[in-house]
Amino acid sequence: MNTEFYKMSGTAEDDAALERAGAILRDGGLVAFPTETVYGLGASALSPTAAYKIYAAKGRPSDNPLIVHIASPEQAESLAYTTPLYYELARRFMPGPLTVILPKRDCVPREVTGGLQTVALRCPENITARRLIEAADIPIAAPSANLSGKPSPTKADHVMGDMNGKIDMIIDGGECDIGVESTVITLAGEDGVCTVLRPGAVTEDELAEVCGSVRVDRAVCTPSLAGEHPGSPGMKYKHYSPNANVVLIEADDASFARYVNERAGEHDAVFASRADSERFTCRVLITGESGTAAEQNHSLYSLLRRADELSLENVYIKCPSREGEQLALFNRLIRAAAGKITRP
Ligand code: TXA
Ligand code: MG
Repeated sequence: MNTEFYKMSGTAEDDAALERAGAILRDGGLVAFPTETVYGLGASALSPTAAYKIYAAKGRPSDNPLIVHIASPEQAESLAYTTPLYYELARRFMPGPLTVILPKRDCVPREVTGGLQTVALRCPENITARRLIEAADIPIAAPSANLSGKPSPTKADHVMGDMNGKIDMIIDGGECDIGVESTVITLAGEDGVCTVLRPGAVTEDELAEVCGSVRVDRAVCTPSLAGEHPGSPGMKYKHYSPNANVVLIEADDASFARYVNERAGEHDAVFASRADSERFTCRVLITGESGTAAEQNHSLYSLLRRADELSLENVYIKCPSREGEQLALFNRLIRAAAGKITRP
């Protein structure tokens, strides 16, 4: 298949390209597009055959449900059974990096929800994503636009590497702002309590300001759950794995630097901020200027891909805390490190 590549230019050509992309989606084709979190691989959320194409292109198990992207919070009405709490959350966090799971209506095919009776809904903030959903005039099912098991793409180049020749169109809208996937919560549990299934830029504390009480699913901080059924099926798959061995180290700054400097060789690297980079004698992959959680989330997937481009053997990463925005980072890193935390 020939994949059309279009780079957003801020000119009238953008409208024509988005109209074309919308028509591809209505016809059951696949279009990759930017969001504020990561790039998505979109297809009509109302078509079982379009959903199948997503699973095929990604090499993704078809029991792992897709997130349905909508143009406005109210569009949820036609797809799911909403609650007053959904609208309170929408008022605060939509459009934005929050995905809400609700009981689904019959029009959402089981191929989109991995056979579940619930559907995940997200109203993205990224302007290109919003214009695309409006141009398509249908809800768009979209997982992250990576091959299954690869880090999620945060640049159009990443999508090209994974999807060129497999999908109809890639829209380049520049680098994603946030860099890790949306916070996924469910309101469809037995007691209706807001439960975080996947942490993201919308934090537990922020959710609690709206919901009162919030739970965090056990799978969020647990790397592998053989034989268990996490709330979010995606959590049970091997994820975010570079070829390099990710060595996650829980230590203070000084012990971390000492540990790395004693071991790292010429095929290894450490993730560190520019401010911290002088502590290390080995190759440093720069996460950002000062090392805030937002900077680390923003650069994480890009650096994991970079580690593979450099054919690195080991990448050393300081283990983040489990608080606030660091929880999203911890959740991704513990999977990338296959569950292993080193304590020197
Ligand atoms: O930021 C994001 O959410 C990105 C962009 C493209 O919007 N999308 C994304 O999709 O990360 P994906 O498919 O890579 O991750 C969706 C996650 C998976 O862990 C999946 O198991 C979970 O959401 N999920 C989807 N529908 C669900 C449902 N009905 N019940 C429980 N978990 C669900
Ligand atoms: Mg994904």
